[in-house]
Amino acid sequence: MQDKAIALQDVDLSLGRGAARVHILKGVSLGIDRGEAVGLVGPSGSGKSTLLMTMAGLERPDSGRVIVDGTDLSGLDEDALARFRGRRIGIVFQSFHLVPTMTALENVALPLELAGEDDAFDRAEAEMQAVGLGHRLHHYPAQLSGGEQQRVAIARAIVPNPAILVADEPTGNLDENTGQSIVDLLFALKRDRGATLVLVTHDLALARLCDRTVRLRSGRIEAEAVTA
Ligand SMILES: Nc1ncnc2c1ncn2[C@@H]1O[C@H](COP(=O)(O)OP(=O)(O)OP(=O)(O)O)[C@@H](O)[C@H]1O
Ligand SMILES: [Mg+2]
Repeated sequence: MQDKAIALQDVDLSLGRGAARVHILKGVSLGIDRGEAVGLVGPSGSGKSTLLMTMAGLERPDSGRVIVDGTDLSGLDEDALARFRGRRIGIVFQSFHLVPTMTALENVALPLELAGEDDAFDRAEAEMQAVGLGHRLHHYPAQLSGGEQQRVAIARAIVPNPAILVADEPTGNLDENTGQSIVDLLFALKRDRGATLVLVTHDLALARLCDRTVRLRSGRIEAEAVTA
């Protein structure tokens, strides 16, 4: 399991309090190889986003282990975990999570600035060009369309060159052409930089591009299929 990009062993996770408490992930075990692309599919509410956040170290399991790039995340305190994520994992959220008071360019530069990189704004601008938003550098998130915000979120996730990229419905809000350019970007990251991709998607065409699909149902892995 140490040689995997991501390994989950018998992960259980509940979220919420009191009557709203939900047992979301139930005994999930999964290994993802370095450089592999995995499509995470399943019905709404089956736990895809929660599983993705668990892999990215943003949710801690109640039991079971999450090992990313050979590191058992349960052994890291919050600060160490945040540093680990910043260096190794790019995350694209279902609802973007852009900082509303920062311009698009500032949002993309943020992870590099936090890492103390000198050329943060140059690299951020290059990444904004790569996602087709070179003409929207100084817009604030509220001044961008949903698809444009999605692309800013992707630029921010990939700008530090993460070894692992997890993305929650990266093409969900995009038209076909823009969606295709995002798919090309994500798979270029895999091909050119050897990144591991984990993508939640309802898009069967995108799922088929992955090396493997994993289907969740009611918080359990229902099926796995090799697609490539
Ligand atoms: N913080 C929380 N507190 C309580 N329940 C939660 C919480 N987050 C998620 N849930 C519940 O857990 C279940 C799984 O949620 P999750 O967001 O992982 O589903 P999903 O597969 O990503 O669905 P979708 O395709 O609609 O995005 C849902 O029934 C949801 O209502
Ligand atoms: Mg979701």
